Amino acid sequence: MYIIKLGGSVITDKTKENCFKQKIADDLVRQIKKSKKETIIIHGAGSFGHIIADKYKLNEGHISVDQLIGLSLTQGMVQKLNSLVLDSLHNIGIPGVSIPPHSCLILKNHKPFSFNHIIFKDYLDNGFTPVTFGDVVLDKQLGFSICSGDLLMLLLAENLKPEKTIFVIDEDGIYTSNPKQDINAELIESTTIDQIDEYITSRDKHTDVTGGMQGKISTIKKIAKLGTDTILLNGNKPDRLFKVLIGEKTRCTNISGGHK
Ligand code: IPE
Repeated sequence: MYIIKLGGSVITDKTKENCFKQKIADDLVRQIKKSKKETIIIHGAGSFGHIIADKYKLNEGHISVDQLIGLSLTQGMVQKLNSLVLDSLHNIGIPGVSIPPHSCLILKNHKPFSFNHIIFKDYLDNGFTPVTFGDVVLDKQLGFSICSGDLLMLLLAENLKPEKTIFVIDEDGIYTSNPKQDINAELIESTTIDQIDEYITSRDKHTDVTGGMQGKISTIKKIAKLGTDTILLNGNKPDRLFKVLIGEKTRCTNISGGHK
């Protein structure tokens, strides 16, 4: 079984509120179907979640009564995006089933407090493709906070032991420095968790990485410690996801899982 996260920056236009990239999503889903692999799909919130979550400061927890409508609207928007992703699956006959994090996960100060992974396993065992997504969820300490798709990757990898976790992003993988700012940036094709520390340090020195990528790397390190391999690949390039799923060589970053 493979756990795939379709990044919000791939399936939505992050600069335009609620803009779904239908063609890209359809194509990624087609590649998953063609691979015939058992998968769990997670998708990011992109412009359906980040803009509104930021407006109502939802990740700071419950600090004002105005946020209640903000939480409700945000959940509504990410579920709209989820319906669009489900449509892509259903249109080509993949039996995708939505499992919203706000109904199976509770956080405590941003960290997992309780998580019902059994429901994912039970749907998988019945032949379905579970689909979950970045969401706003209850938080025992803060009232509520944001659960990213990256955190779901880690939780599901921990509990369901996939063959690989795959992050579909809008770059070819992890680079030695930020490829959007540095023409000398080189793609790291294959690495281990120990080496990742070095990359983070050198990135910090040049202050050329977004918090987003750094957060992702820290999640990937935790996944690697479970012994699970992670691949990052570009979702805008044809058939890279398919090739990774069937074990064919393609341009991407492969982080091999170490053993504790
Ligand atoms: C964010 O999820 C969830 C909300 C903002 C509600 P992600 O962090 O997984 O989304 P992307 O991939 O960055 O868009």
